[in-house]
Amino acid sequence: MAWQAVDRASPVIDEKAPAILSDAVRDKIRSFLPRYETRRAALLPALHIVQDALGHVSPRAMVEIAEVLEIPPSQVMDTMSFYTHFWDHPKGRKVVVVCRSLSCQVMGSDALLQAVKSELGIDEHGTTKDGQYSLLTEECLAACDHAPCMLINEKMHKCVKPEQVGKILKDARNDQIAYPRSDLFDKPAEGPVATTDLPRTSDVREMKES
Ligand code: FES
Repeated sequence: MAWQAVDRASPVIDEKAPAILSDAVRDKIRSFLPRYETRRAALLPALHIVQDALGHVSPRAMVEIAEVLEIPPSQVMDTMSFYTHFWDHPKGRKVVVVCRSLSCQVMGSDALLQAVKSELGIDEHGTTKDGQYSLLTEECLAACDHAPCMLINEKMHKCVKPEQVGKILKDARNDQIAYPRSDLFDKPAEGPVATTDLPRTSDVREMKES
């Protein structure tokens, strides 16, 4: 990917704009706090919650997550930018992820990726004009015995041949999984919800050092 110049002089966030995280989203993030030793440890679930609710995690949402977790916004951005799963700008309703790791490469994932690109008319990290599809590649999708494979949202498509791509992408149910999602993520935490009395990471470090 070519280098890009970033304009750091212009403000990225409109400080006067109303908050974008609803009370329900904030409460759901807080419901995860009792599961962890520090507030910062709830950052990954918080990012999932916000992306599920809003479709992506904008810079403004990152600041608001930082407020809820009482951590610096830079820590939210650090984590966000590490994982390709999280988007800081709007993505398509369905995200196609083609595996780029060894087993899939050996079994033809380059040709598969090319077929997806030409069928959708977009490149990696692109989104179709109708907002229906975005495209990514990622490392091993943990289905090496069915290489080459690709995910559409949560549905895994296995042993995909380039000539099957058109039919798969035209299928309206191509992201529907046939089994129920684990309720672990949506299950409320047991016991009282701690909101303000959980220690920050720096407090825990001090407690361990003393
Ligand atoms: S290498 Fe593609 S799923 Fe493992």
